[in-house]
Amino acid sequence: MTEVEFIPSPYTNDLKSGKVTWQSPSNIALVKYWGKKENQIPANPSISFTLSNCATTTTVSYKKLEVPFSGFSFDFVFEGESKEDFKPKIVTFFKRIEKYLPFLRQYHFVIESSNSFPHSSGIASSASSMSALAMCFMDLERQIVPDMNNDYFLKKASFLSRLGSGSACRSLEGPLVEWGAHKDFQDSSDLYGVPFSKEVHSVFQNYQDTVLLVDKGTKQVSSTVGHGLMHGHPFAEQRFEQAHENLGKLKSVLVEGDIDGFIDIVESEALTLHSMMMTSMPYFILMKPNTLEIINKIWKFRKKSHSHICFTLDAGANVHVLYPESEKKVIYDFIDDELSIYCQNGQYIHDCVGFGARQR
Ligand code: DP6
Repeated sequence: MTEVEFIPSPYTNDLKSGKVTWQSPSNIALVKYWGKKENQIPANPSISFTLSNCATTTTVSYKKLEVPFSGFSFDFVFEGESKEDFKPKIVTFFKRIEKYLPFLRQYHFVIESSNSFPHSSGIASSASSMSALAMCFMDLERQIVPDMNNDYFLKKASFLSRLGSGSACRSLEGPLVEWGAHKDFQDSSDLYGVPFSKEVHSVFQNYQDTVLLVDKGTKQVSSTVGHGLMHGHPFAEQRFEQAHENLGKLKSVLVEGDIDGFIDIVESEALTLHSMMMTSMPYFILMKPNTLEIINKIWKFRKKSHSHICFTLDAGANVHVLYPESEKKVIYDFIDDELSIYCQNGQYIHDCVGFGARQR
């Protein structure tokens, strides 16, 4: 679908007031999105496992304004408290999406949001929060345009989520979502995420992800700044090419059940993401000493026990430990006995792949 197809025809229907609630999960990229062009277009394609437990629940209450407002009329409440400082981010989102949702200036909204994971856990919440909000607004549009089909609903919701936060467009469906034009993925698009259409081998079904909370502080480098570092980066072009190659390889790995191939690609992607940050100008090291301790422990354990445990990282110090469901018991013990000591207050979150956003 093209961008203009997301601009609706003039509405012929009207809604007075009501409310909608959606829950949407976070996701963890296997091939990373790092670098973007204008209008939230990714510099390279990416793919992620949709998560299950780490999620945001958002309720949007709406009331038609008597007189349309020149700005955007809304209140934002996060975990029961009114949050003025979050509002500019939402205004930016509204400005980016109003062309596609022309009803936005005609309502007053109360947006109430909460996360299932601890606040300031260092877990990126923009994917779950922006996708939950996009789903609420799409739900509203679907009530105004009741003959909207489900494919359009999901694609447009992903398209709008992307305008909030790139990775958010991969959170609406599951268990795997690909985003960004790629020659081996037939319906792939830079505009929205599409679920992985092939049958995934049984070893990758119900894959587990334990998030080790190494550093719960706020991010040292915001994603906007981070993506910006890829402009003029000396290795940018090779990196974007490598992401295309890795995604092509990962496709067969997932279908064939090549778990060793999976480990090689996923760990290399995580370390490449961090090496891009270490070699940009300005440069950053986002890992902490405990991140490295954990990586080394995982490698030792994998060698000794022939387990298929591996790790990935996002743009921070926390470690996502990935493993097949069949190894869950042994790895739970390993995490408890050997990895939890490297987590802040011993904290970690067990999660697994999930199926995307749901109405509540
Ligand atoms: C390292 O989606 O947070 O997690 O589009 O600026 O909101 P914005 O960026 P964001 O970037 C995520 C980067 C990443 C890798 C990934 O999820 O693919």
